[in-house]
Amino acid sequence: MAPTPPKSDWIWKDGEFVAWDECNVHLLAHAVQFGTSLFEGIRCYATPDGPAIFRLDAHMRRLVDSSTVYRMKPEWSAAQLAEAAVETVRKNGLTDCYVRPMVIRGFGAFGLDGRNSPIETYIGCWSWGTYLGAEALEKGVDACTSSWMRAHPNTNPVAAKAAGHYLNAQLMRMEATINGYAEAIALSPTGLVSEGSGQNIFLVRDGVVTTPFLDGSSLAGITRDAVLKIADDLGYEVREAMVPRESLYAADELFFTGTATEVTPIRSVDRIEVGAGRAGPVTLAIQKRFFEWVNGEIEDSRGWRTVV
Ligand SMILES: Cc1ncc(COP(=O)(O)O)c(C=O)c1O
Repeated sequence: MAPTPPKSDWIWKDGEFVAWDECNVHLLAHAVQFGTSLFEGIRCYATPDGPAIFRLDAHMRRLVDSSTVYRMKPEWSAAQLAEAAVETVRKNGLTDCYVRPMVIRGFGAFGLDGRNSPIETYIGCWSWGTYLGAEALEKGVDACTSSWMRAHPNTNPVAAKAAGHYLNAQLMRMEATINGYAEAIALSPTGLVSEGSGQNIFLVRDGVVTTPFLDGSSLAGITRDAVLKIADDLGYEVREAMVPRESLYAADELFFTGTATEVTPIRSVDRIEVGAGRAGPVTLAIQKRFFEWVNGEIEDSRGWRTVV
């Protein structure tokens, strides 16, 4: 199991900073009882211009979109939340870190209709290394298709990043790691490839870069979006398509994308080697350009970096 990351000093709570150890919610908060918590995962990287948060505006926009779906609008706009995230990283004196904004329903309502519970907004951050281990970015990981599947689109609205949806993802991830895999690949209710337990997935075959289309069973990842643009910049043909499970086994290359996962090659699926069984050239070219973007090694022509 991954070690617990180190604490930082301060958590932003609705316009104020609260000490990490004193930032508590009530046991019977709606979020604890029913999973009524919306969140984001964002990374800040050390760059030559100082710490820079990658795609901060897109993440805060998605958080506000999630809050619209769940009737949980915070009192803060996406722009105010972005500013608060910058302040939180600065106040904690961190250079590269993971940033976790959360909009939750606190203590109040006891039934399922949580609208009598106050909406509380928090932003925490902490130092966090690679999600799938230091070697994963270079050598790739072993993945399995999960025996669990994603929910039907009109059950959990997964475009909203709500904590409750992640019980399904936890089942996948635990099953995978207990069985000796680094990650799980989720199938949609139709049996097509959806995404990883907490990341999107890409296939490469004959130089064409494909990712499953957004069918309501997967998250519209912000890294996914960045990688689609990066692959296009690099001159690859890019497709969003229906991906049957067997395409995974026949791919030349596979890789995961996500804020935590970054761009991580997949070297096998269900113990079948992908391509040559190691990170492939297209994956590595995309990964290289991704890290140039996040680490500030190329000009920020798309406005993806917010310097702290
Ligand atoms: C289920 C799921 N899919 C995909 C992703 C990747 O999204 P992003 O690139 O926005 O981090 C995440 C990460 O938040 C996720 O939890």
